Amino acid sequence: MNKKKLVFSGVQPTGNLHLGNYLGALKNFVKLQDEAECIYCVVDLHAITVFQDPSDLKNNILETTAGFLATGLDYKKSIIFNQSSVSGHAELGWILNCVSKVGWLNRMTQFKDKVGKDKEKASVGLYIYPNLMAADILLYKSTHVPVGADQKQHLELCRDIAQKFNADFKKNLFPIPEPLIQKEMSRVMSLRDGMAKMSKSDESNYSRIDLKDSADEIIKKVKKAKSDSSSIPDNLKVLSEKPEALNLINIYTSLSDRSFDQTINEFKGKDYSHLKNKLSELLVEVICPVGKEIKKLLEDKSFLEKILREGTEKAKVIAERNLKEIKNVVGFF
Ligand code: TRP
Repeated sequence: MNKKKLVFSGVQPTGNLHLGNYLGALKNFVKLQDEAECIYCVVDLHAITVFQDPSDLKNNILETTAGFLATGLDYKKSIIFNQSSVSGHAELGWILNCVSKVGWLNRMTQFKDKVGKDKEKASVGLYIYPNLMAADILLYKSTHVPVGADQKQHLELCRDIAQKFNADFKKNLFPIPEPLIQKEMSRVMSLRDGMAKMSKSDESNYSRIDLKDSADEIIKKVKKAKSDSSSIPDNLKVLSEKPEALNLINIYTSLSDRSFDQTINEFKGKDYSHLKNKLSELLVEVICPVGKEIKKLLEDKSFLEKILREGTEKAKVIAERNLKEIKNVVGFF
């Protein structure tokens, strides 16, 4: 059994990275680099569970890679690669399809929320996507998985699959991976609707801050963000009834590496316009350099492709070794 801490996480290359990706995932990825062996994957196999235009997909894979590097991931410290280049993900995915249960997948709320009444028209891939996610994690015998709160249920499924595999084959092959979910900022919400997640698929540009936004765009979006007409309260209970206002406080807290209490102490009794000014300043300071770096990196696509190729070679070494062991345990030659 793997004793060392091994971190794995994945980001889907389906469009512009935004503040939710940064605070909910990337910022945490960067911190973990110094504590553990880390593998960060651009999950292109997951992306095609919903149709992607092939040339857009290629661009988005490189853009997500650029986002990884621009937020501070170091390809010398961490393994950065794209999922489809390591065939072990799909192979283990199939094996785990045969371990996981239809009943387990039927409970996945993300699938139900995504397809709504159109279940019959959803791709089979979208339905079994959590099994592939489990394969991503278990292929490397990962021990820790940093994810946003929306992925918690998928990670629990991965733990169930790992346990069932170990029990079925009477072998302690897979460590049971632990979720790493940030308490302060597990969910960044839309700037227009505090009950909806900040999302790249939201029609309104004003709902999210993209990492490539200019300073002017950031300032405009924060100004237009929904908040509240009364002044900022001094406790979470009152704030919780105003989800848009709470979201702004949470974003400020996470971005400035403060605690919730510190932020509240700084802003209680003041108007939201004051918080918005401070938040805009901080966003411009933190996000604009990242956006500029993404744009710069995208000017040299061959460099980004080279990073992915090198990461793929490193990932393959671990994946092939583990897959050999897994296949043997399952009973394949
Ligand atoms: N399902 C994740 C998401 O949509 C992405 C993902 C795929 C992932 N494989 C993973 C995250 C493995 C963590 C570990 O955000």
